[in-house]
Amino acid sequence: MKNVLIIGSTGQIGSEFTMKLRSIIPNGQIVAGYIPAAPVKGELKESGPSEIVDITNAQQIADVVEKYDVDTIYNLAALLSAVAEAKPQLAWHIGIGGLCNVLEVAREKKCAVFTPSSIGSFGPSTPKDKTPQDTIQRPTTMYGVTKVSGELLSDYYFKRFGVDTRSVRFPGLISNVTLPGGGTTDYAVDIYYKAVQDGSFVCPIKAGTYMDMMYMPDALRAMYEIFEADPAKLKHRNSFNIASMSFDPEMIYAAIKRQMPSFTMTYDVDELRQGIAESWPNSLDDSCAREEWGWKPEYDLDTMTTDMLSVLKERYSK
Ligand code: SER
Repeated sequence: MKNVLIIGSTGQIGSEFTMKLRSIIPNGQIVAGYIPAAPVKGELKESGPSEIVDITNAQQIADVVEKYDVDTIYNLAALLSAVAEAKPQLAWHIGIGGLCNVLEVAREKKCAVFTPSSIGSFGPSTPKDKTPQDTIQRPTTMYGVTKVSGELLSDYYFKRFGVDTRSVRFPGLISNVTLPGGGTTDYAVDIYYKAVQDGSFVCPIKAGTYMDMMYMPDALRAMYEIFEADPAKLKHRNSFNIASMSFDPEMIYAAIKRQMPSFTMTYDVDELRQGIAESWPNSLDDSCAREEWGWKPEYDLDTMTTDMLSVLKERYSK
């Protein structure tokens, strides 16, 4: 991996991942692809090349791949689960129409491709605890439908055309850099901001609703390490279960309260998000990722909470 195009570089994952790749591949061209509605700014803009790349425009992708001699494409453009329920056609257009464009360019120009999947690729008929790598995937959200279809399409391009597609199923991602928008797991990001800014939080997800979550530094490492794997060892490709922690609102509340005793939480359940959360697994079994490419998380709920609170307290005390 040397010259990389990141589509969706100003989003929740892309903004941090672009900076990480620029630090670990200093002599490569790490191109920040963005759409005018979400422009590159600040450090992201100044630290390397950026280009307008709308994933629904195949020619734009092909032109940038050609211009920078791109060998790897990270496809990070997507609508998160609750937004995708409000705009299902757009979610399909970006998630699958966009992926078709990326895969076709990758086939012609011989690029590797990473397209994240999600815990959202599972549904109510999937085994809920320690969800196996290979199991029932019948999601009931448009977000999940695009994720399963994306997994299948990516595997198809590998088997049929030899495109080096690799991917992980992300849990809810928690970060202190770019705010997420419209995800079901995002309450677990908001809670830290509200704890630091207001000292209280109104939780939209019911107590007892467990979902897998992950701190962003672990997620970024997974996106890079999966491409360092020896392809001969990969029995799976699209996509690997990865996991680091599973909790419900009471557990994250308690973890914050241990460090901020005056913090309080009440509930006002959002039915759309609650329904989506209940259709997803409680926790994933990530043993295939551990065996096939050495995946191992570093953060747990307490170490993540310590880091989140210290970064946010520092930021908002100024
Ligand atoms: N974080 C995503 C969402 O909640 C799940 O992958 O939509």
